[in-house]
Amino acid sequence: MLKDKVVLITGAANGIGQATALTVARYGAKVLLGDIDEAGGQATKKMINAAGGEAIFFYVNITDSKNVARFTEHAVEQFGRLDCAFNNAGIEGSYGTTAEYDEKEWDQVLDVNLKGTWLCMRSEIKHMLAFGGGAIVNASSALGKTGIWNMPAYVASKHAVIGLTRAAALDHAQQGIRVNAVAPGVIDTPMVRERIYNADPDAEANLLRMHPIGRIGTPEEVAEAVAWLCSDAASFVTGTTLSVDGAYMAK
Ligand SMILES: NC(=O)c1ccc[n+]([C@@H]2O[C@H](COP(=O)([O-])OP(=O)(O)OC[C@H]3O[C@@H](n4cnc5c(N)ncnc54)[C@H](O)[C@@H]3O)[C@@H](O)[C@H]2O)c1
Repeated sequence: MLKDKVVLITGAANGIGQATALTVARYGAKVLLGDIDEAGGQATKKMINAAGGEAIFFYVNITDSKNVARFTEHAVEQFGRLDCAFNNAGIEGSYGTTAEYDEKEWDQVLDVNLKGTWLCMRSEIKHMLAFGGGAIVNASSALGKTGIWNMPAYVASKHAVIGLTRAAALDHAQQGIRVNAVAPGVIDTPMVRERIYNADPDAEANLLRMHPIGRIGTPEEVAEAVAWLCSDAASFVTGTTLSVDGAYMAK
């Protein structure tokens, strides 16, 4: 499905980013992995190589514009082009009501989830234009379409990612660049299992109830949606946000 395409993935050291890296490599892509977690990023690279795939890892902090520009250049230097990007790196931030929320936390969540995503897109689009087009997928969330208690910065940032996705799709539709987002429900990753479930003993049961399908999702289920959106099979799909959420948003 992605034979010989060059795919860039941020947040590739863990969870959804790692699963997507393994999936697109299995579909034939060469993968540029980026993360602030170097050990995790190297582990993803090793997994891809062990399965016979091609991948390289570079440290990138998506909130640093110079770092991001350098990272996207690596795709072209190492693999000759850039076809697809999954802007997946994100943080959930701390928990608190809108009235109580900490200003530094707010800035940090918006910086990574919104500004970081835009910085990545800005660099990626420049390279994609040089090669006649490409496909970008941004990580939003079911919480980009509806609210939840105690996560005002996260909810705001993920709604904003959907708006940014639409704006970029319009700006570059005539230049051969498709821009979409995925909106996962709760997915079994370190973000959820190690942090959200630990922060609140009732979280697991509460979150399960929100998914009519009767379970939370796997990173691989999101990865398949991202791979399809990146592929030429989705050639008329741009400016949209695909829910991958076990009917979370259907209620
Ligand atoms: N897990 C879920 O239930 C869920 C649901 C909906 C959306 N999402 C979104 O999907 C994406 C991936 O989530 P996940 O659950 O795999 O998270 P995760 O915490 O398991 O992995 C996120 C990765 O992003 C990296 N990262 C964080 N800040 C970074 C930065 N500034 N620069 C570069 N890398 C950075 C982390 O090191 C980590 O490897 C996030 O954007 C998240 O908001 C997750």
